[in-house]
Amino acid sequence: MSIIYQTIPSPAFVLEEALLRKNLELIAGVQRDAGVEIILALKGFSMWSVFPFVKKYLSGATASSLNEARLIFEEMGCKAHTYCVAYLPDEFEEIMRYSSHLVFNSVAQYERFRSAVSVHNTNSTDAPIACGIRCNPEYSEVETELYNPAAPGSRLGEVETAFKDGLPDGIEGLHFHTLCESTSYDLEKTLAAFEQRFGHLLPKVKWVNMGGGHLMTKQGYDTAHLVRILKKFKKKWGVAVILEPGSAIAWETGVLVSTVLDIHESRGIKTAITDISFTGHMPDTLEMPYRPRITGTSDPVPGKPTYRIGGVSCLAGDYMQEYLFDKELQVGDRLIFEDMMHYTMVKTTTFNGVRHPDICILRENGELEVVKRFGYEDYRDRLS
Ligand SMILES: Cc1ncc(COP(=O)(O)O)c(C=O)c1O
Repeated sequence: MSIIYQTIPSPAFVLEEALLRKNLELIAGVQRDAGVEIILALKGFSMWSVFPFVKKYLSGATASSLNEARLIFEEMGCKAHTYCVAYLPDEFEEIMRYSSHLVFNSVAQYERFRSAVSVHNTNSTDAPIACGIRCNPEYSEVETELYNPAAPGSRLGEVETAFKDGLPDGIEGLHFHTLCESTSYDLEKTLAAFEQRFGHLLPKVKWVNMGGGHLMTKQGYDTAHLVRILKKFKKKWGVAVILEPGSAIAWETGVLVSTVLDIHESRGIKTAITDISFTGHMPDTLEMPYRPRITGTSDPVPGKPTYRIGGVSCLAGDYMQEYLFDKELQVGDRLIFEDMMHYTMVKTTTFNGVRHPDICILRENGELEVVKRFGYEDYRDRLS
């Protein structure tokens, strides 16, 4: 759908419902063909106004904190698969109320909470909570250390030596997460490493959660291959398989709309200062770092209008190096940052008190719905 951005509020995250549906249909197809459960990882996408829509296609969602588990329970209407790097004792009772599965990051964490789970399961009329442990296969194709859970000394999951005495009683599942925007071929290699280190435990578990990072909605991803390897794994080990992608759900489903507020010039460098902030609204661009795509721009060539893009916070590094534009920019022009739905929205802050972008949905019938507008109270109530 072609969008007239000049008419959209700014700054604003705009999700296109039709693009989300396209992704969900593809993922639901993999879920059906491979006979696996695919759930949404809230850490990557927690725009809860579309949870009822997501739930039409996926089996549920995964949480990494009490807040996420509660959001799943209240807004998606189902219990969460919850994994926390460490559970907080004073939150654990409540987490159990919202969770169908609990994955522990270590054997010690499981030992600390197993009796609480057992009491809960005895007293609850719901299906018992299924417990699992996160494993570290010590193999990952991810090169950026910040995003590599299998880097040497990683605190995420147990390495094989933790299971020299086998699995603790009551553990029904194993979990690993080592992929990031990866292919099915990366998963295949990861499964080989996982089987090599943890294969002896697989006959004893009912399910394996293969984490996230399966970017099946990216153009060129070989979903037929993914289905084949998942079916093979299920058959070989007789286990249920769960995948919990975040990025794949919201991949290429929407943009961040911004407006040029000023053109600043210093020693021949022009900066288009906008109403967004890289550190406040797209922190990954500085952390990873990566260069976001801006519609209608390319890399600079001499003699053409080029601008740095400036954020509105006073952090000196809150800008992106030059982009090339077709024409000179004017105050009031819209700049559209592409593919900003996954991980961007969930990481925003109100640093400097900068205005948080509105959250909008472009409905399939062409209507634009502003589902959330942020104001002073949202800023004030984050602190006290
Ligand atoms: C344990 C776990 N599961 C799932 C995900 C979602 O991964 P992605 O959004 O790359 O699919 C992550 C991301 O960090 C994770 O840490």
